[in-house]
Amino acid sequence: MIAAFLFILSLFSALSPSHSQRPTDIRIDCGATEKSTIDGIEWLPDTGYISSGTPKNVMTKDLLQTLATVRTFPLKNNLFKKFCYEIQVVLGRTTKYMVRTTYFYGGIGGDSNPRPPVFDQIVDGTLWAVVNTTEDYMNGNSAYYEGIFKPTGKNLSVCLAANTFTDSDPFISSLEVVPLWDQLYNSTDFNTYALSLVARHSFGFSGSIIKYPDDQFDRYWEPFGESNSPSLSSENVSVSGIWNVPPVRVFTTRLAKEQPEPLVLMWPPASLPNSTYYIALYFADDRVSTSSRMLDITINGITYYNNLSLTPTGVVVFASQWPLSGLTNLTLTPSTGSNIGPLINAGEVFQMLTVGGKTLARDVVAIESLKQSFHNPPVDWNGDPCLPRQYSWTGVTCSEGPRIRIVTLNLTGMGLSGLISPNISKMTALTTISLKGLEILHLEDNRLGGQIASLLGNLKNLRELFVYNNNLTGQVPSNIAGKPGLNLRVTPGNPFLILPQS
Ligand SMILES: *[C@@H]1O[C@H](CO)[C@@H](O)[C@H](O)[C@H]1NC(C)=O
Ligand SMILES: *[C@@H]1O[C@H](CO)[C@@H](O)[C@H](O)[C@H]1NC(C)=O
Ligand SMILES: *[C@@H]1O[C@H](CO)[C@@H](O)[C@H](O)[C@H]1NC(C)=O
Ligand SMILES: *[C@@H]1O[C@H](CO)[C@@H](O)[C@H](O)[C@H]1NC(C)=O
Ligand SMILES: *[C@@H]1O[C@H](CO)[C@@H](O)[C@H](O)[C@H]1NC(C)=O
Ligand SMILES: *[C@@H]1O[C@H](CO)[C@@H](O)[C@H](O)[C@H]1NC(C)=O
Ligand SMILES: *[C@@H]1O[C@H](CO)[C@@H](O)[C@H](O)[C@H]1NC(C)=O
Ligand SMILES: *[C@@H]1O[C@H](CO)[C@@H](O)[C@H](O)[C@H]1NC(C)=O
Ligand SMILES: *[C@@H]1O[C@H](CO)[C@@H](O)[C@H](O)[C@H]1NC(C)=O
Ligand SMILES: *[C@@H]1O[C@H](CO)[C@@H](O)[C@H](O)[C@H]1NC(C)=O
Repeated sequence: MIAAFLFILSLFSALSPSHSQRPTDIRIDCGATEKSTIDGIEWLPDTGYISSGTPKNVMTKDLLQTLATVRTFPLKNNLFKKFCYEIQVVLGRTTKYMVRTTYFYGGIGGDSNPRPPVFDQIVDGTLWAVVNTTEDYMNGNSAYYEGIFKPTGKNLSVCLAANTFTDSDPFISSLEVVPLWDQLYNSTDFNTYALSLVARHSFGFSGSIIKYPDDQFDRYWEPFGESNSPSLSSENVSVSGIWNVPPVRVFTTRLAKEQPEPLVLMWPPASLPNSTYYIALYFADDRVSTSSRMLDITINGITYYNNLSLTPTGVVVFASQWPLSGLTNLTLTPSTGSNIGPLINAGEVFQMLTVGGKTLARDVVAIESLKQSFHNPPVDWNGDPCLPRQYSWTGVTCSEGPRIRIVTLNLTGMGLSGLISPNISKMTALTTISLKGLEILHLEDNRLGGQIASLLGNLKNLRELFVYNNNLTGQVPSNIAGKPGLNLRVTPGNPFLILPQS
C-alpha cells in the first residue's frame, strides 16, 4: 500500500497573477501541446522531456487544465519495460528535489478498461511506489504522489513501468520537480535514502489544500480534523526559524484540548506497511503567557518526546527513522506539572526508501553514445540502464554487486538502423571509455551499416559478437577475427562485408 491522496477537482481556477513561481521549478503538463498558467504557476508541454508515449485528451468535462490531457505508454506485450521523463537538474545533483506525479485516468483506456491500470513509478534507480489510483478515480478525484530525491546524474529521470498487475497502458497527467533548500529534511542522508510522502496535514483546518504561494515549495498540506478553536490570522503568528519551513498559515489553526487532558489522534489516517518513517510534528503556542505549555508525546504508546515546551515562535519535533506498521495513534498529554491543554498545528510523515544506486558512470556515458548512433534506439532506453534491476533497458543485462556494470547487450532483431561505425568516436566510447565489462554483444538481425570497429577487439571480456543479417561493409578487423575465445558470427547477411580468410 502506498498512499494516494484525495485531490478535489477544482472546476474554477482562481486567478492570482501577482505571484510567480521560482524559475528553477519545473511543471510538466503531460500530453499537453501548449503552455498554460494556473494560479500563477506556469506549466509546460511535455514534448521536450520524453521521447515515448502518446498524448491523449481526457473525455471528462470541466477539468483542471493539467488533468485534461495525459500521456499514455503502449505496452506492446511488455516488450518495453519503462518509460521515462528526463529532467535536467539545473541546480545540480547536490540539491534534493521534491517530485510530484499526478494521475487522473478519465477513461482513456476505453470502455473495455473502466478502471485505471496499476503500475510502478521509478525515480532514477529507485523503485518509488506502486501507482494505484482506482479508489480515488472511482470517487471522481485525481491522485498524487510526492517524494524527495537527490538525482544520481545530470538528469533526474521519472519513469512509469508495467508490473504484474498492469492490465492496460500506464499513463500520467502531470509531473513537477521542485528544488528544495539544503536545510529542509536535512536529518536524512539523501545519498542513501529517499522520502516518499505518506501524510502532510494542517490540523484543525477544514479549507482546501494549503499550497503555493502559502508554501513557497508548493508542498500540499491537507486539512485534518475540525477544530472548535477560532483561527488566528497569519499576522498574529510569529513562527520562524523552523528548518523545514512549514507555511505560517498552518500555525493559524490547531487541534487542541481546552482542559489538561490527553489529545489522541489516529494519524496518519492510513494503515502503513512495516517500514521506517520520517516524522515531523509542528507546534506553536497560541497564547503569550508566563506559564509554559508542556507536552509529552507518544506514538503507539511509545515515548516520542517528553516535556516539550511550546512557544509562540514555533517548535518542531522530528524523528528521522521511526518504525511504524499498520494503524498509528499519536497521543499528546500535558507534562507532569503543566495544567494547560495540549495542541498541535501540523505534521508530516514520509516512508524512507533505500535508494537503488546507479550504473557505473562510464558505462552510462558509453551506452548513451551507442544510443546516439542508432537512428531508432529502443523506446525504453531512458533512465538508468541497469536499475531498478527488473527495469533495465531492453537488451541490457548488468553485473550484480555494488559496482554495477553492463555485461551483455542483446539487441537481436530490434529493427535498429544507424551506423555503429565508421563513427569511431562513438565506438571509442563503447570500447575505450567504457563497457570494459562487456561479455556479450548481439547486434544481429538489424539494419546496421558501416564497418566493424577494430576497437571492439580490445574488449577484454568479450566472448560473443554476433552481427549477422545486417548491412555492414569493409573488412572484419584482424584483431577481432583472430581474437582467442571469441565466438564471432558475421554471416549470413552482410553482403558487402569482406570476410576474413580462414
Ligand atoms: C536530459 O534531459 C534533457 C531534457 O530535460 C534532454 O534533452 C536530454 O536528452 C537528457 N539527457 C539524457 C542523457 O538523457
Ligand atoms: C488497487 O486499489 C483498489 C482499491 O483500493 C484495490 O481494490 C485493488 O486491489 C488495488 N490493486 C492492486 C493491484 O493493488
Ligand atoms: C540542517 O540545517 C540547519 C539550518 O541550516 C543547520 O543548522 C543544521 O546543522 C543542519 N543539520 C544537518 C544535519 O546538516
Ligand atoms: C492580531 O494582530 C492584530 C494586528 O497586530 C491585532 O490588532 C489583534 O489584536 C491580534 N489578535 C489577536 C487575537 O491576538
Ligand atoms: C517489522 O519488520 C521488522 C524487521 O523485518 C520485524 O522485526 C518486526 O517485527 C516487524 N513489525 C511488525 C509490527 O510486523
Ligand atoms: C494506541 O496504540 C497503542 C499501541 O498500539 C494501544 O495500546 C492503544 O490502545 C492505542 N490507543 C488508542 C486510543 O487507540
Ligand atoms: C519533565 O519535567 C518535570 C518537571 O519539570 C520533571 O520532573 C521530569 O523529570 C521531566 N521529565 C523528563 C523525562 O525529563
Ligand atoms: C536475445 O534476445 C532475443 C529476443 O528477445 C532472444 O530471443 C534471444 O534468446 C536473446 N539471446 C541471448 C543470448 O540472450
Ligand atoms: C559522429 O559523431 C560526431 C560527434 O558526436 C557527430 O558530430 C557526427 O555527425 C557523427 N558522424 C556520423 C557519420 O554519424
Ligand atoms: C547497404 O549498404 C550499401 C553499401 O553501403 C548501401 O548502398 C545500401 O543502400 C545499404 N542497404 C540498406 C538496406 O541500408
